[in-house]
Amino acid sequence: KRKIIIDTDPGQDDAAAIFLAFGSPDELELLGITTVAGNVPLSYTARNALILCELCNRRDVKVFAGADRPLKRPLVTAEHVHGKTGLDGPELSEPTLALQPQHAVDFIIETLRNEPSCTVTLCTLGPLTNIATALTRAPDIAPKIRELVMMGGGFSEGGNITPAAEFNIYVDPEAAKIVFEAGIPMVMMPLDVTHQLLTRKDRVNRMRAIGTPPAIAMVEMLEFFERFDVEKYGSDGGPLHDPTVVAYLLKPELFNGRLCNVEIETESELTAGMTVVDWWHVTDRKRNVKVMRSVDADGFFDLLIERFARI
Ligand code: BDR
Ligand code: CA
Repeated sequence: KRKIIIDTDPGQDDAAAIFLAFGSPDELELLGITTVAGNVPLSYTARNALILCELCNRRDVKVFAGADRPLKRPLVTAEHVHGKTGLDGPELSEPTLALQPQHAVDFIIETLRNEPSCTVTLCTLGPLTNIATALTRAPDIAPKIRELVMMGGGFSEGGNITPAAEFNIYVDPEAAKIVFEAGIPMVMMPLDVTHQLLTRKDRVNRMRAIGTPPAIAMVEMLEFFERFDVEKYGSDGGPLHDPTVVAYLLKPELFNGRLCNVEIETESELTAGMTVVDWWHVTDRKRNVKVMRSVDADGFFDLLIERFARI
């Protein structure tokens, strides 16, 4: 079983990633969920993580609140996509579960120090503020991370928050730079992959047919989430970004990519948060990230739906 920590800013698509992990207890041992400010402020992302655990009757899962703002910049949020709460769509009641008293960053550091070396995988679904803070405060944890699998960045697809940048990297480029330069084995799920995963009607209807409260809530979340892309771009559903991270741990063969150098732009105002991917190895810079570029979309949705049905 793979031990994982999910670092997240839920977010309807973050919720889908968390549900995928909940539906996969044979393969994944979830050590904790750490939350960060991103799609919406931290007060909402932490609350949302608790709501999701409760919705799936996973009262055993520990949820920690982390950074409430990026390292150096004011917080940029995405209510235009996710709604005011980040989980707009279904009627959700306030959580009765409580947050852990420990700060998310302390939990990450403590866990990596206490678990055997190279056994814990970090799954990041939001801005990288918590991870960068942990690495800065405790550089000894870097070689202990088995792998960091992240949703973030873009390559040939362009950006979704500026022409150059993807949201998670754009919100805290300084944090991303620290993480990308830390020497951790990394896998990146960029927009190039996630834009191939549209919440088409037939796929959402298969989720609805599961009929359980978590599946119905997920459908209502996705129907809210997709309206942004459907209305703005006329696309056939919304792009399901964050579950790619968990899907990769369960079925890496669904994805194709290449190990290459990736650097983060932090200086330029025009391109801040851009992931500069050396796909063609035109430099001799260190190949630090496995960048995914294509995905078996039908296989991905089959996996998602099969696992949602197990919650
Ligand atoms: C990423 O940004 C957020 O809006 C989503 O939850 C996802 O993590 C996509 O750019
Ligand atoms: Ca997210």
